Amino acid sequence: MANYNLLLLPGDGIGPEIMRETRRIIDWFNAQGGAHFEIEEDLVGGASYDAHKSPATDAMMDRALAADAVLFGAVGGDKWADVPYEARPEAGLLRLRKDLELFANLRPAVCYPALAAASSLKPELVEGLDIMIVRELTGGVYFGEPKEITGTGNEKRAVDTQVYDTHEIERIARVAFDLAQKRGNRVHSSEKHNVMATGILWKEVVTRIHDEEFSGVELQHILADNCAMQLVRNPKQFDVIVTDNLFGDILSDVAAMLTGSLGMLASASLGAAGSDGKMKAMYEPVHGSAPDIAGKGKANPIAMIDSFGMCLRYSFNRGAEADLLQKAITNVLEKGLRTADIMQAGLQQVSTGEMGDAILAELDNLSA
Ligand code: IPM
Ligand code: MG
Repeated sequence: MANYNLLLLPGDGIGPEIMRETRRIIDWFNAQGGAHFEIEEDLVGGASYDAHKSPATDAMMDRALAADAVLFGAVGGDKWADVPYEARPEAGLLRLRKDLELFANLRPAVCYPALAAASSLKPELVEGLDIMIVRELTGGVYFGEPKEITGTGNEKRAVDTQVYDTHEIERIARVAFDLAQKRGNRVHSSEKHNVMATGILWKEVVTRIHDEEFSGVELQHILADNCAMQLVRNPKQFDVIVTDNLFGDILSDVAAMLTGSLGMLASASLGAAGSDGKMKAMYEPVHGSAPDIAGKGKANPIAMIDSFGMCLRYSFNRGAEADLLQKAITNVLEKGLRTADIMQAGLQQVSTGEMGDAILAELDNLSA
C-alpha cells in the first residue's frame, strides 16, 4: 500500500478548527485502506511565535522539507501586530514558500452550482465558472532586495523591489501552458508592460515559451488592471491566468470572491521535482486566519478540506479519491447545508464541525 507523509500546520485563527475537520477526512481515507497517510503536526505563524519566538522554526522547516506534502491552515492576527517585522506570522508562510521553492501557486476559482446565488455578481455571470489562476510565488516584489525603510523622522523612504529573472518566468509559464492543455487550452498572461520593466520581460518570455513549446495553446496578453476589471465584468472569458506574485495575490482574491465565498477555495503551491523525482508541495485555503470568528465554530472548513483534495490529485496522483471528495462536498451543498459565510435564506446553517460531519457522512454514502 502507498504510504505518504503529511505535515499539518494549522497555524492561527480559524486554522486549527478547519484543520481538525480535514484531519477527520484524512482519517476516513486511512480507514478505507486505499493508501496510508502518516500525519505529523507542528506550529507555524503566530502560534509558533508564541511558543518559540519564531514563526517558522528550523525544526519545523526540516519536517516540512522531509514531508511528501504540507497542509497549511492560516496565519496572522492582531494579536501579533507588534512583533518584529521579520518574526510576524506571515513571515512563516513566506519562509515555507521560499525554502521549499514553491514557485507555482495554483488557485482554482470554481463556482459550485449550488452557490451561484451567493456570489456578489449575477448568477448567470458565475454559473459554471472555472478559472485557474497560476501565480508566481517565490519572486517579484515579495522577495526582491532591497526591501527597506531608511531615513528618520518625518522624511523616511520605503523601497520594495520588483525583480524577475528569465528562468523564473519560463518555469511558471510552462506550468500555466501545461495546465491549460488539460483544461480549456487558453492562457491569459497578465502584467503591466506599459509601466514596468518586469512586465516587458514577462511578456517577452511568456511569448517565446508559447511560440517554442506550446503554440497549440491560445495565448492572450492582458494588462493586470484590465484583467481585474474583466474578471468582474465577464469572468467566464478566462480559462488559465498566469501572473506574477503581487498581481496574483490580488487577482486571486477577486476571482475567489466571484465564486460566492473565500471560504470555498483551495490552493496548491508546487515546486520543481527534486533529484528523487518527488515534487515539493504545500496546500492551503486561499482565505486567511479570520481571527474575528476564530473558535466560534463558524468557519467554513471546505477550502481546507478541498486543499487536501488538491493534495491527493497533484502530489499523489490519486484523482479518483480527489473526485470522490469533491463529489461529497458538492452533494452536501446541494442538500442545502451552509456555514455562515455562504448562508442563504431558507437553507440550513451548520457549524464547522457539522459541515465536517456532513462531508464524512456523504463520503460514507458515496462509497457504500
Ligand atoms: C495569500 C496571502 C499571503 C500573500 C499573505 C498572508 C502573506 O494573502 O496567500 O494570498 O500575500 O501571499
Ligand atoms: Mg492574498
